[in-house]
Amino acid sequence: MNRRTFTSLGLSTAAAAAATTRLWAESAKPASSGRHFYIAVIADSHIIDSDYHGQEETPEDTESLYHTATRLTAARDFINSLGPRIEQVFHLGDYFHDYPSTDYDFYFTHRTRVDIAKEITDGIHAPMHLLLGNHDYGVPGVSREFTHRLFQAKYGVAPYSALDYKGWKFLQLNCFLGDTWDIKSPRYDQGTGSLGERQLQWAEAQLAEGKPTVVFVHYPLWIVAPTEIGDFGLHPLLRRYREQIKLVVSGHWHKWVDFAHTFGPQHYVMAATRYDENASMLIEIDREGQTCRFLNAGLVEWSTHYSRRYGASVPL
Ligand SMILES: [Fe+2]
Repeated sequence: MNRRTFTSLGLSTAAAAAATTRLWAESAKPASSGRHFYIAVIADSHIIDSDYHGQEETPEDTESLYHTATRLTAARDFINSLGPRIEQVFHLGDYFHDYPSTDYDFYFTHRTRVDIAKEITDGIHAPMHLLLGNHDYGVPGVSREFTHRLFQAKYGVAPYSALDYKGWKFLQLNCFLGDTWDIKSPRYDQGTGSLGERQLQWAEAQLAEGKPTVVFVHYPLWIVAPTEIGDFGLHPLLRRYREQIKLVVSGHWHKWVDFAHTFGPQHYVMAATRYDENASMLIEIDREGQTCRFLNAGLVEWSTHYSRRYGASVPL
């Protein structure tokens, strides 16, 4: 059964939701043994507020922004409906869409997109870990320090971080801290990501702990500077640790792309909840086998914004 026939059967939304939940319960291994656990990944929610009056590159892009809160809410509710439950959620950045003001105090005297995004994801029944995307920054009008201060104050989020959970490591990298996002640098180019020496050294120390690792970074590796200081950079680091890095996931392009092992470890670019409420990755982690499984990969319509609803017709 595909999405079309599923819909044509006239199943109500409630029945479809029940089918989804049942299918998940059947396909996911029981969490009770302790061997497996489940995480979800979402990206590019691009939340706006009533101060948004912009024009994006295409009418479709502009129109999509008026649905971002609804779609993020639907993605959240879907994740919450799953059992075995999702234990950790990762958001890959572009949480909100640009800055309505360059005045720091404005964000503490007005309810803005910065607050609306949090109000939605606070409803997720699992801890959510937030990366920063290019639209979460406002360079050059808003300094990177401004953003870091705001993210700390509003969300308690650091520019980059690691989560150690049940023997695995989840790295939230920030590709806007290097020279390519420094307006004073001759290498300034916002289309390219870079981590900066300090973060690269930190990432290497994290990897040296030897745990099975999942890496998240907003820009696809294709547009992250391969090396930054001599031959030191993210690409050689990922290749060196390719056996223990089980997955690298990015957002930003708003489309599903499978880079396979182009950069060493398996690398996916995932679609955006901005365009599709189904845009989530559901991942099963096997603690014993030290492997992970992208459970809804069979539903993805590659190179598009879209994936079919989980439970519609999934070959798992
Ligand atoms: Fe982005």
